[in-house]
Amino acid sequence: MIGILDSGSGGLTVMKAIREQLPSSDIVYFGDIKNAPYGSKTQRELSTLTAQAMLLLRERKAERIVSACNSVSASLAVSLLDVFAIAPGQLVEMVGPTVGYFRNVEKRIALCATPATVAAGMYENAFHMIGKEPLSIPMPDLAAAIEFGASDAEIKSIIEHTLASFAGQFDVLILACTHYPLVQHIFAEVRGPDIMLFDPAEAVAARAKQLFWPQEVAFGTTHFIISKESEHFREYVRKLFPTLIYTIEVLP
Ligand code: DGL
Repeated sequence: MIGILDSGSGGLTVMKAIREQLPSSDIVYFGDIKNAPYGSKTQRELSTLTAQAMLLLRERKAERIVSACNSVSASLAVSLLDVFAIAPGQLVEMVGPTVGYFRNVEKRIALCATPATVAAGMYENAFHMIGKEPLSIPMPDLAAAIEFGASDAEIKSIIEHTLASFAGQFDVLILACTHYPLVQHIFAEVRGPDIMLFDPAEAVAARAKQLFWPQEVAFGTTHFIISKESEHFREYVRKLFPTLIYTIEVLP
């Protein structure tokens, strides 16, 4: 069983890519909507929430984990893995596969992400290892706006306003928060004509397949767990997985 975690609906963009790469894996997805957004929390709060999510997924028999949340990346550092005795081959997170994709890309890179992700510096460190210095653009309110159903106009205004001060400074914009690809069409309207948008989901799913297949060949079941009822979450699931058979459980 593969366990996927996020603060809410963002991880669904990663799960979609994983479902395509691993159609017969059993997947349990946890969206911690009660505690969303994660991106404005402290590192200490995020470590606690990450630990709780890990425990829940393990209790539900997930042996392999995908952290489909960039904001908890710093909490997935070695110490936390050791605490839960998760072998490196049993965990896939966002930063490594994303940065790995850019090893041979000679373009000016920017990443937009939550304040927690930018503050953790995991992307900067990883890019530094391959000799690149990306521009980091925090987007404080965007994940919450997407999670809790803000209008397209409100979302466009947040994106426009934030990117305005960085115009002309990058060629590729990495959507380094898994919520952002849910509004990729709005990013596409706002970005300059020569800017490429990069959604890390494919690279992360490819990494999951490389590590988890064929051990994770099973029945292809999908179970979603959310920590708070949310019609927006249900709507995203319907939109992204129109033909999938699944169950949704709301934690008490
Ligand atoms: N989707 C998550 C991420 O990739 C969390 C966003 C949030 O809850 O603020 O960072």
